[in-house]
Amino acid sequence: MIMLQEKIKLEGKVLSDQVLKVDSFLNHQIDPFLMREVGKEFAGRFKNEGITKILTLESSGIAPSVMTGLELNAPVVFARKRSSLTLKGKLLTAAVYSFTKQEENTIAVSGEHLNETDRVLIIDDFLANGQAALGLAEIVKQSGAEIAGIGIVIEKSFQDGGKLLREKGFRVESLARIESLENGAVQFLDETEA
Ligand code: G4P
Ligand code: NA
Ligand code: NA
Repeated sequence: MIMLQEKIKLEGKVLSDQVLKVDSFLNHQIDPFLMREVGKEFAGRFKNEGITKILTLESSGIAPSVMTGLELNAPVVFARKRSSLTLKGKLLTAAVYSFTKQEENTIAVSGEHLNETDRVLIIDDFLANGQAALGLAEIVKQSGAEIAGIGIVIEKSFQDGGKLLREKGFRVESLARIESLENGAVQFLDETEA
């Protein structure tokens, strides 16, 4: 997605060979216009999949998911990272290990919002090692729903998540694929393939 690549080039900050900061449009401040385009792009790619629900993880997955849900006319459910007073009844949960933080967290979704009649599109802001997406997939499995695919705003292709998820048979659609962050520069996968 050209508009997203341009935004990353213009405003992304390479913090290390591993980490890209995009706080000006995705992870802290949010660019609604860009998010609307992101939503249209995901919707276009998954429009024939009969999506009935979008599943994401709080907090940065919510904005792109809501814009996609608007386009696909499907509600958005976000998994919670911490327990909530009102999150009661049947809970679908998964353990998600973060390599960055070196800790395991439980994510949870109420069974009220996901069931075996659903066809689910999983969306997240970043794909690094794929643990968050796998946790979301586990929650969908527990609900009895089907997974139609996984939509990622920014995939860091030099980390293992994309390979892992595709090897498991998931359709993964990433709007920007970063091959390298070495030498302080963002190198997109498409640029080297072309
Ligand atoms: P890991 O697999 O590499 O260990 O990372 P993990 O999925 O545990 O991600 C930890 C958090 O860091 C996630 O956000 C994820 O989206 C984010 N993340 C991973 N790589 C990058 C990166 O290069 N740049 C940025 N900006 N974020 C990255 P989170 O803690 O769930 O926070 P939230 O923003 O969704 O609230
Ligand atoms: Na994040
Ligand atoms: Na995230």
